[in-house]
Amino acid sequence: MNNFIKRVAGLLLISSIFIGCGNSATTTGETSINTEEDTKADSYITVGFSQLGAESDWRSANTDSMLSTFSEEKGYSLIYKNGQQKQANQITAIRMFIQQEVDYIVLAPATEDGWESVLSEARDAEIPVILVDRKVNAADKNLYSCWVGSDFELEGIKMASWIKAYTEGKGIAPEDIHIVNIQGSIGSTAQIGRTRGLANAAREYGWDLMAEVSGDFTETKGREVTDALLKRFNNINIVYCENDNEAIGAIDAIESAGKKVGSDIANGEIMVVSFDGVNEKALSYAREGKISCIAECNPLHGPRVEALIKALEAGTTPDKFNYVDEKIFSSIPDVRSIVANGKEYMVEAP
Ligand code: AHR
Repeated sequence: MNNFIKRVAGLLLISSIFIGCGNSATTTGETSINTEEDTKADSYITVGFSQLGAESDWRSANTDSMLSTFSEEKGYSLIYKNGQQKQANQITAIRMFIQQEVDYIVLAPATEDGWESVLSEARDAEIPVILVDRKVNAADKNLYSCWVGSDFELEGIKMASWIKAYTEGKGIAPEDIHIVNIQGSIGSTAQIGRTRGLANAAREYGWDLMAEVSGDFTETKGREVTDALLKRFNNINIVYCENDNEAIGAIDAIESAGKKVGSDIANGEIMVVSFDGVNEKALSYAREGKISCIAECNPLHGPRVEALIKALEAGTTPDKFNYVDEKIFSSIPDVRSIVANGKEYMVEAP
């Protein structure tokens, strides 16, 4: 049944109960007859939100944005589930939302693969699914209503374009650029896109991409894998971190190894670049020049998801894929703008 009709039917049923029973709430056997509170609850739009976890500052900001948008004051009843980085937990949460007959399911998927059967269950239950942040890999695109998030590959292309402009400006030959990629969680759209953006650029420009190792989007893992890579290679001059938390860990590892973080790679400094632009420490590192460049990944998706729900409530069909415009930040004045996928982006102060 259409969600709007479902809610109106709920209200009519409750009104008829009140007409028959006056205003007193009663309970007969196991069937509870709604109180005025419940009447209010039935007029809410119920949203089940499956968040993938809490691995980064970006993720916390994203969760906060969702929680503050889908508030009772604004007419929502939000059921929030943290998947603790496990797809199995997210699948369980979605099944619970289906049982609870929520009006909308919002899913921030941990990885792209493995969603088809649970999304088919949601479709069979006629519950629209909105994907947020990362995508799912499903041949049948009708398993979800729409998606909103970042163009992660474009973020990687922007970063590669900044590295190219900066190193060319310094007269550094492509074969002298020795990069390691501290990847995000393997199989997530953010990792796939950012890894592809760098790998394609390295191939095209002739950079030495020495290793790709996952840091799972966390500071601890970022530190651990950077430390191991510094022991394995003695000529790393760029550490491409797929988020800011990893970058903070990587900087710690580089400094603990007695090396200097910075953009003067011709004179032995190790350049760190990253993604997000949310974490305060990372932004202050970017202002100090310890992080040379950050490609923005905007986490404030709550209002964007709400706009999609409002469009669906109004009976319109929103665009299937909704990309967020994002910026690029650096405090190094050498590169004023970059071009990615044919579009110019001004490099802004962090
Ligand atoms: O999917 C978005 C990515 O996930 C962010 O870049 C990262 O910080 C987060 O954990």
